[in-house]
Amino acid sequence: MAHRRYRVVVIPGDGIGPEVVSAALHALGPIRDRLDIEEVRAGLAYYRETGRPYPEGFFDKLRSADAVLKGPLATPVGPGGYRSINVEIRQRLDLYANLRPCRGYPGVSPRVFDVVVVRENTEGLYAGVEGRFRDEAYALKIVTERGSRRIVRFAFEYALSRGRRRVTAVHKANILKLSDGLFLEVFRGEAERYRDRLEVDELIVDAAAYNLARSPERLDVMVTLNLYGDILSDLVAGLAGSLGLCGSGQYGDNAAVFEPVHGAGFDIAGKGIANPVAAIHAARLMLEYLASRHGDEWLARAAGALDRAVEEALTVDRVLTPDLGGSAGTMDVAEAVRRRLEALLP
Ligand code: NAI
Repeated sequence: MAHRRYRVVVIPGDGIGPEVVSAALHALGPIRDRLDIEEVRAGLAYYRETGRPYPEGFFDKLRSADAVLKGPLATPVGPGGYRSINVEIRQRLDLYANLRPCRGYPGVSPRVFDVVVVRENTEGLYAGVEGRFRDEAYALKIVTERGSRRIVRFAFEYALSRGRRRVTAVHKANILKLSDGLFLEVFRGEAERYRDRLEVDELIVDAAAYNLARSPERLDVMVTLNLYGDILSDLVAGLAGSLGLCGSGQYGDNAAVFEPVHGAGFDIAGKGIANPVAAIHAARLMLEYLASRHGDEWLARAAGALDRAVEEALTVDRVLTPDLGGSAGTMDVAEAVRRRLEALLP
């Protein structure tokens, strides 16, 4: 039977984006043939050229693709310019779940662990409801029962489907009694349906940061509100040794967008030294998503092989970029992963 092909929109993005995204596509080796790729430009460089942050029909394109793989899109700081395209994509496509799995690799990372941050992606302090009145400024933190329920369910279902052992809710409900309190209440209610199959736990966000810094290997899946998830997932990446190691998937009911967790890395852009592993993991998460959505067993196996190929390229071949103390270039890593993948895939 002929294998199904998938329509994927690829947004190279800003700074190191084009480098790490093309490296990730190179690393896919034989899997690459299963993707029909349409490249779409957007971001700061595009804005400087055209006066707009993304082209006409941008969101319809993202919606109608089977999946989207994107590089970082830079946002000008402060008023003026444009609103974060990343936030706009999340809101317009209703990508409510932001999954950020991150591992520390033995002999490569300062810490060895395997943690997944499931971040609520459309509400909280990032809902974009801000106001300024003379010398005072306000940001509304929005927490809804519906939003909390769907992210908590996503985390539990993800944990079950991936054979994880525990889900921890991370919150600040001792201070933010109504907003974080609602999130926690929903978590506790949903947890009742999973207690027989998963361990259920709760941590206040400051304690979660402390526990992560001290013993990340003791944490498993964490589900949390938007801002905490943003910060904690960078902490996790730091524990792994580099932002360049962790990929992420953003999921809605009808669309999904995959990206490295890092930003545009302007300080190293154009030098060919950015770590492409985060972008490769983003691509791997995309393959897992396509495989499970379309019941594609070959693709599921291929995604698993890609994960192993990354591990072998880093820990056995030790092809490491400067952020991990090595001297390899972006494409050296991509090539090492591709070779390992070709050996693993039948
Ligand atoms: P950043 O992640 O771009 O850089 C932070 C530090 O990590 C830099 O020293 C950079 O060189 C290093 N780094 C990042 N990725 C790396 C990689 N793959 N390999 C090696 N080193 C790496 O964060 P920053 O500087 O705060 O943001 C720059 C721009 O990126 C901003 O305009 C921001 O808005 C945007 N951004 C976009 C995101 C997205 O599209 N999802 C996420 C975060 C930031």
